[in-house]
Amino acid sequence: MARLPLYIQIANAVAKLISDGALRPGERTPSLRAVCDHHHVSMSTAVQAFVELESRGLVEPQPKSGFFVKHPPPKTDLDLRPHPPRVPMSGSLGNLHASLFDAVASANLIALGGAVPSADILPTVKLNRMLAEKARHAGSRGVMYDLPPGSETLRRQISKRMLKGGAIVSPAEIITTCGATEALMLCLRAVTQPGDVVVVETPTYFGLLHVLEALALRVLEIPTDPQHGLRLDVLKSALKDQRVAACIVLPAFSNPLGATMPEDNKQQLVALCKKHDIPLIEDDVFGELPFGPKRSRTCKSYDDSGIVLFCSSFSKTLAPGYRVGWVTPGRFFHQVRTAKLTHTLATATLPELAIAGFLAEGGYDHWLRGARAIYKNNVMQARRAILGAFPEGTTVTSPQGGFLLWVTIPLKVDALQLYERALARGISIAPGHMFSLDQRYTNCIRISCGEHWSARIAGAIRTLGELAKRLAE
Ligand SMILES: Cc1ncc(COP(=O)(O)O)c(C=O)c1O
Repeated sequence: MARLPLYIQIANAVAKLISDGALRPGERTPSLRAVCDHHHVSMSTAVQAFVELESRGLVEPQPKSGFFVKHPPPKTDLDLRPHPPRVPMSGSLGNLHASLFDAVASANLIALGGAVPSADILPTVKLNRMLAEKARHAGSRGVMYDLPPGSETLRRQISKRMLKGGAIVSPAEIITTCGATEALMLCLRAVTQPGDVVVVETPTYFGLLHVLEALALRVLEIPTDPQHGLRLDVLKSALKDQRVAACIVLPAFSNPLGATMPEDNKQQLVALCKKHDIPLIEDDVFGELPFGPKRSRTCKSYDDSGIVLFCSSFSKTLAPGYRVGWVTPGRFFHQVRTAKLTHTLATATLPELAIAGFLAEGGYDHWLRGARAIYKNNVMQARRAILGAFPEGTTVTSPQGGFLLWVTIPLKVDALQLYERALARGISIAPGHMFSLDQRYTNCIRISCGEHWSARIAGAIRTLGELAKRLAE
């Protein structure tokens, strides 16, 4: 994989000295000349590194004296300035994203990196049979466009599913999409303009950060509690002096933290967005995978003004490759439908029909019950194995659904180095760097438990633990 640019590597090294406490607030940083000598780089690379550190809010220049470590801001532990828009997929994040998916696709790797369920957990045979049957019976309909809002049969099934999350949404209020990725993209296109500020959780799903980059939006990362999701207190204070065009949340088993937003917080968030007239984009791709018997309510279920745009898909529950998702855009229905027409025109007809058939008669709920039990077991086993194998001081999230774990390793360990060494040993993981535009999570990794627990996975976690211990030494 491509390495980080030199100036970012240097900025990271200095940032680490600051976070480790080796350089304290108010102290002078190493001089530009010292950085050039130490890292064997040109003066312009050293300057670029310090501009990067300054943009992260870690250092500040003082006339004729060099750079000094900044004192942390008084109110929150995070800099709440939105990021400027970035060139889509241009930087190390884009390269990492591509290499991560290469790793997921490779049959030779133990893929703990991508949030993808393995095909042998999914109802693959039944679903493919359903697709073949629909193809046989659909005749010419199967090869024609299913123009937005998309298959009515499917929308009727989705409307029933949404009731389980407490939302009463008629089929006419639903638009089918090519996965949740397109649903998110369409919502953002419907409610924002390039340069607008969009609130996201931090850490958050890197695919979302890419969509935001691609639309030249500015990102405001709001801290997220590993158990309870987005910090409403911080969001409220940010909204006092910041105009926000949209807010994106993952209230159910978020990616990567696995957090679950309490019902009270969901209600407060919907009310807050209504008060400030901020469209709330809800991403629920893991919502149907609680470890308990019942799914929780969606933000959409608390929405009485159409301010919530709800996005989901069948990628985590049935078939990521069918690319079937949906959006219920509330009062932004027409804008989203127009965006769909210009984005992909229509969702593929046969996969829509196959999923609709499976929902109607394939035993979806029965299958979901089995899958939840498998994911719960995978997550519990992996969690225990990580705590046993990784360096002392490592913490792991304890999600109540989904199949992702967020591992925080002692600060000395750089997750990118761990990623590279793990790849060399045939294992892919998702380094924390990908989950923020701010390089906040350089000592974190996301582990996906979408594959049956096995000796092979247990061995991979032991190897990761050994590699992390070596890096921590
Ligand atoms: C939180 C979240 N949202 C959206 C997506 C994209 O889903 P889809 O495959 O349906 O486009 C993912 C995929 O990992 C995800 O984790």
